Parts: sequence; C-alpha cells; structure tokens
Amino acid sequence: MSTVFQERKRIILVVDTGVDDALALALAVRHPAIQLEAVLTSCGNVGLELATANTLRVLDWLGATDVAVIAGAECPLEASFVDAAYWHGVDGLGGAQLPASQRSALEDAPGYLVKRLLAEPGQITVVCTGPLTNLALALRRDVGIVSRVKDVVVMGGAVQMPGNTTPTAEYNIYADPEAAALVFNQDWPLTMVGLDVTQQVVLTADEVGRLAGETSPEAVLVREVTRDLLVVKGMESMALHDPLAVGVALDPTLVQTLSGQVRVETRGEYTRGQTVFDLRPRGPRPASNTRVCLQVDVSRFRRMFFNALGVFPEAG
Ligand code: RIB
Ligand code: CA
Repeated sequence: MSTVFQERKRIILVVDTGVDDALALALAVRHPAIQLEAVLTSCGNVGLELATANTLRVLDWLGATDVAVIAGAECPLEASFVDAAYWHGVDGLGGAQLPASQRSALEDAPGYLVKRLLAEPGQITVVCTGPLTNLALALRRDVGIVSRVKDVVVMGGAVQMPGNTTPTAEYNIYADPEAAALVFNQDWPLTMVGLDVTQQVVLTADEVGRLAGETSPEAVLVREVTRDLLVVKGMESMALHDPLAVGVALDPTLVQTLSGQVRVETRGEYTRGQTVFDLRPRGPRPASNTRVCLQVDVSRFRRMFFNALGVFPEAG
C-alpha cells in the first residue's frame, strides 16, 4: 500500500552534510510530493564551511541548482564543537568524487528561517537532520515561529535504544544539547525520528554493490557517498537516519508514535545529550504536541527512498 499525496509538502531542510544528509537531500529533491524550499546548513558532522560546500555539491550534482543554500551556525550554542568526521570522513562525504559547486551559499540561516516562517504561516515543514543550533537561534530571534511553522521533524535522540555518541546520547542532540532542549521545550508539532526507528532502516553494501553498473546521477551519488563506509571500511550496512526524517515528514503513516514531552539532559555528567521520554504505563498520556517514533514500516520507507531515487538494488 502506498500513500497518495494530495499536495506537495513544502520543506526547509536543515543539514550538516554528511553522508546520510546527502541521501536525505536526494530524497527531498527527487520525491515528486516534496517541494524543497531551501537548505540551511550548520556545523555538525564536519565544520560549517565543509557542510555548506558538501550541500551545494550534492544539490548541484542532482541538478537542483535552483534550491537556495543558506549557511548558519558555525558552532553550538554553548557546547564545544564535536564533529563526526570519524564516520563521515574528513571531507564529510566519505571521499565522494563529486565536482565542487560553482555556487555560493547565502548567510544567516536563522534569520532566513524566521523570515520564511513568519511570511508563510502554516505552510512550511522544517526537517532537521543535524544539530538543532540553527532552529534554536531562530527561536531566540523570534519565538513567533512556534505558531507559524506547519510542523517540525527532527532526526535525533533515542528513547529505548542506547546512544551512538555516548551510552545515552545520539549525535545530533549531543552536539548541541542546549539547542535541543530549547527546541523540544516548545509547544509546536514536533516529531522525533530517533535511533529507535532510524537504526532499523539500513542500506546494505550488497545493495549498493548491485548499483555498480548504474550511471544515473542518483546511483552515482549513492555509490560515491557510501564507498568509504561500505567498501573501504567494509561495513555490511549503514543506517538511513536522515532520509527517514524526510520520509516521515512526507508520510507520517510510515511510523508509529507515542505523544509526550521529551526533555533533553544538559547537566548530567554521564548523560548530557540524553533525550528523556516517560514510557512508564501510568494511564492516559498527558497531552503533548511532541510525537516520538517507536516503530517504522521499514519496507515501505525503503520503497519510497529507492523509487524516488530511481534505483532498485533489490531487483538484483
Ligand atoms: O546520529 C545520526 C545523525 O548524526 C545523522 O544526522 C548523521 O548525519 C549525524 O549527523
Ligand atoms: Ca546529519
């Protein structure tokens, strides 16, 4: 069963391009039911300059030269900058051989986000696939965005799973816990797409291997950005963390969620960056605009992803 979309979902994507951010960009650019309004960048997997250059490279490689890129936060609100280059490579794209973009990014992502959300109330979905610094800075500029955004989807956090950066913290939250706390403490429609579901959605080395003969820009992108992880490092698979956040923004029926407040730990000596969500069975859950994803329809999302990119590794 696939969902029929009534109108295109207007998305502003906030990234720290990285390997899976690149695949999320590809899904956002290629899915016919998504209108990618703009892409905002921040430090995260790699520094701001590289994350921004990578975002431009991926968009241009896919021919999306009309999608504006706006650079944002150079560093977290208070935390020391911790990158994830060990995973994404020092270039942030796993050594992908993609031409550099000839375009430049605009500046002031938080200011751009405030301007767009206030100008088009109820129209725009914000999908964050990196640290939440830009979104927190936008809130500090004008908290009025809380009532103007259509909805917010965050790839980040973990509730029933261990972290991937510390025993209790997932990277995007750990990278800027103060920003995440500010974002999760707002009363706006927010869906947390955490490791509980993203770890279930993987792309395997075998599947990418079956794209070897493909020459489409999408197949080349998938091969190039995953080569370091799936070939050089020899990993069997990699999680499609960021693409799933885009998929959930487009089709919330992909996931099963529980509503409730998520608190971000900012002071714990051993738990800083943990997303705390009360799962205790204590009768009716208190009303909340926050939804936490706990289960995902893996095959339906993978079908969405591969169909949008026009690559079909399962066919092999
Ligand atoms: O924990 C996974 C998240 O951290 C993904 O967004 C990945 O790109 C890294 O930023
Ligand atoms: Ca990311």
